[in-house]
Amino acid sequence: MCGIVGYIGKRDVAPLLLEGLQRLEYRGYDSAGIVITSPKASGLKMVKAKGRVRDLEAKVPKRFAGTTGIAHTRWATHGAPSDENAHPHLDSEGKVAVVHNGIIDNATELRAKLVADGIEFLSETDTEVLVHLVARSQAVTLEEKVREALRHVEGTYGVAVMHADFSDRIVVARNGSPVVLGIGEKEMFVASDIAALVSHTRQIVTLEDGEMATLKADDFRTYTTEGSRTTATPTTVEWEAESYDMGGHDTYMHKEISEQSDAVDRVLRGRIDDRFSTVHLGGLNLDAREARGIRRVKILGCGTSYHAGMIGAQLIEELARIPADAEPASEFRYRNPVVDPDTLYVAVSQSGETYDVLAAVQELKRKGARVLGVVNVVGSAIAREADGGMYVHAGPEVCVVSTKCFTNTVVAFALLALHLGRIRDLSVSDGKRLIAGLRKLPAQIAAILETEEEIKKIAEEYAGAQSMMFIGRVRGYPVALEASLKLKEISYIHAEAYPASELKHGPLALIEPALPTVAIVPDDELLEKNRAALEEIKARSGRILAVAHREQEKADHTIVVPKNETELDPILMGIPLQLLAYHTALAMGRDIDKPRNLAKSVTVE
Ligand code: F6R
Repeated sequence: MCGIVGYIGKRDVAPLLLEGLQRLEYRGYDSAGIVITSPKASGLKMVKAKGRVRDLEAKVPKRFAGTTGIAHTRWATHGAPSDENAHPHLDSEGKVAVVHNGIIDNATELRAKLVADGIEFLSETDTEVLVHLVARSQAVTLEEKVREALRHVEGTYGVAVMHADFSDRIVVARNGSPVVLGIGEKEMFVASDIAALVSHTRQIVTLEDGEMATLKADDFRTYTTEGSRTTATPTTVEWEAESYDMGGHDTYMHKEISEQSDAVDRVLRGRIDDRFSTVHLGGLNLDAREARGIRRVKILGCGTSYHAGMIGAQLIEELARIPADAEPASEFRYRNPVVDPDTLYVAVSQSGETYDVLAAVQELKRKGARVLGVVNVVGSAIAREADGGMYVHAGPEVCVVSTKCFTNTVVAFALLALHLGRIRDLSVSDGKRLIAGLRKLPAQIAAILETEEEIKKIAEEYAGAQSMMFIGRVRGYPVALEASLKLKEISYIHAEAYPASELKHGPLALIEPALPTVAIVPDDELLEKNRAALEEIKARSGRILAVAHREQEKADHTIVVPKNETELDPILMGIPLQLLAYHTALAMGRDIDKPRNLAKSVTVE
């Protein structure tokens, strides 16, 4: 998705902004641009380029000095990727520059009015209307000009504005698309993502929806779009700048898969309560009486987070005996759902900014529901909007496709299920058993990661496949769904995921030697049923890769994973399949960290 970075201070701005853009590359984009000025300069200087940040860098002239600037990576929505459509956009006089994330819903209407008034547009973007609106405003200050322009706009925005006549400031505003201020010593930063800030400052202010800010070199102030002052106390972010580096790995995906043992250790840290065989989840804001009153749990998320939520729902149902299910937030918000006061809603999101999830949360809150967030990014929109929740503490996830956040989210759900279970009918001995299981996870994950070479060899065999089938039953089904999503996202191999129990009801027709099946076969009460599915596939000459707790006779290959408590098995079974997707894509020469058409943080509808 689009990314914004801005700076005002004393340093040479262009290298700073280009470095910031590089840190946002992981979000996915198709063009980039930069505009700069300085107190002494007579105007704005801008460079834009279709393609990568390095293409932009190559176009930046040698003499491109300035101390104030804004820059952008664009992910096309209105208009194809091109130099013209790349941000920043300038008004006709070249005095106002705007970078914008989000979508202006009434752009067509606004554009028609502006064209009728004689304005000539240089791009096909929705953003350009905003530039002209700011430029035409008769208001005296830049803040008022921006405020007036935004009054005409319907839709979502994270926006940063510069004006040649107000070169001592950058004005920013947020509505539905993240804007984070970075507070430095006599210098200020702004970005849509803290990734672009942490190498310069850890002091962060996250704007709320409906909030604006003025950044000057030695000062910032925040206020509402109506103009009333707001208080913004900087918070310190914990994530290190190094967490955004590749750390010796060839890709972020590989780095993040490899970090999972430590990441799981972090999500558990400080939360286990041996005395009562439960866990402490202080941030839930849900006392025992309220927890006992929950009649249903509804989990909402998108993509990988939805799959983690599916496992979460099963864990909650199994351990707490509360009916629970998961639904894609993107569907839920459009179907006018019945919102029940006794249902606990849980919004799951790595980024905490996914628009569909945020919109579902806002709709639920409007209807008076209680919503918890299970989120990775601290202080993100969903975390702030929710009534309470838990952070999954996976650390920054840079690769577009999610791996360690999936695992940590599932572990977080195991903690939530255990917590709710122990408030209800889960026994002390079951609590102890599960805690012991949770404690084993980091070492077991490390053991799985050691089998990478073996998984790589298997992946190289599958790399030529046109299509692959993933099957799992009950706990294994969301694992199959997630593994198939991972494979298709980065290798572009078509992949289907089905409950193993559904094979006979249709997909068995697809089975033939050219369609390999990956089967999740845990040693649980359904082992024999799963083995029967393997028999059916083998009888049709299908190739099988089993992920199991012991060798499977019918399978051509088995990846053996360590056994944990049955309820926790899905946490481990997904990990070798992340490596399978990774090595399959690698063998096919794919751009693993930047899969085509995809973006990290889907902050638009
Ligand atoms: C897949 C992937 C996506 C995200 C989805 C939701 O690998 O990363 O499916 O899981 O876009 O994103 P978050 O979790 O940030 O809400």
